[in-house]
This record gives sequence, structure tokens and C-alpha cells, in this order.
Amino acid sequence: MDPLVGRRIVRLDAVESTNDAAKELLETDADEGTVVVAGRQVAGRGRHGRAWFSPPGGLYCSIVLKPADANVGLLGLVSGMPVVKALRHWSVLATLKWPNDVVFRERKLGGILCEGVYRRDTFWVIAGIGVNTNVPLDRLPAEVRGSASSLKAETGVEVSNDEFLEYMLADFDKVYRASKSGARAVLARDYMALCSTIRQRVAVAMADGRTVRGTAVEVTPQGALVLLDEAGTRVEVTDGTVTNL
Ligand code: BTN
Repeated sequence: MDPLVGRRIVRLDAVESTNDAAKELLETDADEGTVVVAGRQVAGRGRHGRAWFSPPGGLYCSIVLKPADANVGLLGLVSGMPVVKALRHWSVLATLKWPNDVVFRERKLGGILCEGVYRRDTFWVIAGIGVNTNVPLDRLPAEVRGSASSLKAETGVEVSNDEFLEYMLADFDKVYRASKSGARAVLARDYMALCSTIRQRVAVAMADGRTVRGTAVEVTPQGALVLLDEAGTRVEVTDGTVTNL
């Protein structure tokens, strides 16, 4: 079966953000599975309005997706699985910190920013992926240096970003097809197998300012994290920033 994801790859040198470049492409000629990849970003964006520092050496790409419906919470989560699988292929036993931080020994190696957009009456998702493959850690700003790492820093080996991308996109294609076919329960189970938040005691800071504390026990087929709080009550959170306690 020909792959959907990566059937067209648009390579750029420097962009503000590959997510924005993908959205622009969607105005004219991008179709499902198109990937935009850039050598660096000057205004890379992370979740919750944070910056994503994107010096040369890292992998920065965005994938144009056309999900079957607008219920895309799980799609955002499982978009991190191919990154983890690729890092493991290159010997870094990374995991996912819910929702989709890619971490190794509590340091962040990658992240996903999924953005929904309507074009020509169709709902699209741009899945932006940033991976610190060969990023020299001293090129990252001081405020993130202590909590970030890179594939090269962990293994001493420089990886080809083209090879990493090819490996990752092949797995993304499988995950995306499963997601389109509605295999939510299976995907949630596969996600949990790679997610180090499960069984952790955590605090989740939510957008409305509230913080929920408890033990993470499950991820639902909709992508929510289920906590058991101190009273043993199940609490579902759909977005937020997790701190391991
Ligand atoms: C996060 O962990 O907060 C998400 C980081 C997502 C970064 C990637 S890099 C490629 C794409 N373009 C962006 O501006 N952001 C995403």
C-alpha cells in the first residue's frame, strides 16, 4: 500500500514555523499527507503559546492531516508515538509524557503541536513535530537547557535527519491510518505502552488555573488522562501541563 503520510515532502531552509508554512500551503496545493520540513525555524511554536527553539541540527516538520472527524484529542497524543519509536530505533529509550512530550530521563527531546484549521469547508490538522536530534545543547537558551536533551547528547552519534524523518514518517503513516479507521481503543492502549505518565503521581496544571493531583491510571480513547485523586475519585483531564510528583 502506498503511504499517505510523506507522499509529498516540501523541504525548506529557514521558516518562521513549519506549521505556518503548512497552513499556507493548504491555501493552494497541499493535500493529505504532505510534509513540510525545515532546517531551522526563527519563530517555532510550542504548546500553550510557548516558544520552540529551533536551531540548525534539529528536525522540524509539519504533517498535513485530514482526520475523519473533529474529535482529535487522541490524534494529538498518538502523533508522538512515531517520534518515540524513531528515537528507540536510534538507541534512546524515550517515552511520552502526557499528552505528547517526548522525554528521556525527564529531559525533553521532542514535542508535538497539533493545530486544527478549516480550509474549503474541510477540517484539517497540522501535526507539527520538533525533535532535538543533533541540536547542540549550548545553542538552547539557558531557561530550557537544564530540562532538555538531544539524541546526539545522549548517544554521542549524529543522526541523519533525512533518515530519521523517513523512519518516523513510515510509522506515522501506520498510526494515522489506524486513527482514520477508528481504532481508538487499540491506539490508546498502544499509546499507554509508551507513556511514562501512567502509574505516576502527578500534578496537572490546567488552562483555567486549577491544578489536579493524583495517580495517572489510564488514557481514554478520546485522549483524556484519567487520574485517581486522594479521595479515590476518577478525574479526567483533557489538556494541561503535567509535573511528576
Ligand atoms: C511542545 O512541546 O510544546 C510542542 C513543540 C512543537 C514544535 C514543532 S517544531 C515543528 C512545528 N513548528 C512549530 O512551530 N512547532 C512545531
